[in-house]
Amino acid sequence: MLKQSIKQLVITTCVALLPLTLQADEFTKQDLKLWQDEFMTVVGEGRKVFTDPKLGTNGVVCAQCHPNGANTHPETYPKFQKQLGRVAQMWEMVNWCIRNPLEGKDLAVDDPRMTAILSYIAFERRGVKMEPGKH
Ligand code: HEC
Repeated sequence: MLKQSIKQLVITTCVALLPLTLQADEFTKQDLKLWQDEFMTVVGEGRKVFTDPKLGTNGVVCAQCHPNGANTHPETYPKFQKQLGRVAQMWEMVNWCIRNPLEGKDLAVDDPRMTAILSYIAFERRGVKMEPGKH
């Protein structure tokens, strides 16, 4: 009987504390502006990387085939890519393009230039419905 009420007490306490642990961090309008500005700075860097011949070795740049991030379809990732023969993430296709048309070397997934490329592509396609896996 005592065991039962202790169990009940533990459950009640956990349920009561749950909203506290799930509460999001507090943030201000100033924070939101700062984060948006930071994001847009990275998008701008991505726009520059898209026309940077230093990413490859043959003078070819992303924007030649993907002007304004066209034909990149970020909303369809992850998806099966026949070039890789498996379900892939978008950064893997970015590296595929760096290795092939640009004849360059893969970027690490956490390379700031990779983040900039992915941010720019996603921003250019903002508002497009998510359709993972779609061809
Ligand atoms: C010479 C033309 C060319 C250049 C330059 C090029 N790409 Fe591509 N890119 C392609 C082709 C072709 C594909 C394959 C399309 C497919 O089958 O999905 C592709 C696919 C992609 C995809 C996946 C698109 C999808 O629909 O799933 C992304 C993302 C991408 N490229 C980004 C880049 C980036 C970033 C660069 C610069 C580092 C770049 N590409 C340079 C031609 C190019």
